[in-house]
Amino acid sequence: MTQDELKRAVAQAAISKVESAIADGEIIGIGTGSTANFFIDLLADYKNDIRGTVASSEASAERLKSHGIEVLELNNAGTLGVYVDGADESNHHLELIKGGGAALTREKIAAAASKEFICIADESKLVDRLGAFPLPIEVIPMARSLVGREVVKLGGNPVYREGVVTDNGNVIIDVYDFMIDVPRKTEETLNNIPGVVTNGLFALRPADVLLLGTPDGVKEMT
Ligand code: 5RP
Repeated sequence: MTQDELKRAVAQAAISKVESAIADGEIIGIGTGSTANFFIDLLADYKNDIRGTVASSEASAERLKSHGIEVLELNNAGTLGVYVDGADESNHHLELIKGGGAALTREKIAAAASKEFICIADESKLVDRLGAFPLPIEVIPMARSLVGREVVKLGGNPVYREGVVTDNGNVIIDVYDFMIDVPRKTEETLNNIPGVVTNGLFALRPADVLLLGTPDGVKEMT
């Protein structure tokens, strides 16, 4: 199977998992990225049944709207029944690295606002130890150099993601050469640097369910 076929398979499995939430009139949180896009496209079949969605990026909001699916502001939506999103890495505790698509802050907000976080990914994303994928940090532009220096003190190699401005008007620093042994602690430490909006570790609020696409079928981890 190709990577896209694996992504589509996990998106389909996620649809089965959210059907009851849709039927119950819950608001569905929608992630960002190529795997989330498969989920959005499959969700189009339910557009007349869904009470509403909250998107974690302008790109996902546009895709949802192009299918005729209602997109709400989180401030008007209350608690989300379920949030479905991809990841760049997951460990076996369902702690994640996210933000490859620069949407990490809104993704973290949507996950925090959700009763359940279902992560969808192909099997290449499952790792024993987080950090081979460079860890994204969203930073207020004037703090870029300060945050970079602090990251170096912590042992990381910060690289400014050229030409990228987030939906919130900020910049992204990707941290290379930074293997993460205690994700919750690292998430807190990085978030305490002045100028950091948030970092791409989802350990304080990990996924509740990981649907992993493998050639032998979709595996569910909890
Ligand atoms: C975007 C993200 C994505 O979920 C992550 O980058 C995975 O993307 P893809 O499904 O395209 O592999 O965190 O900010």
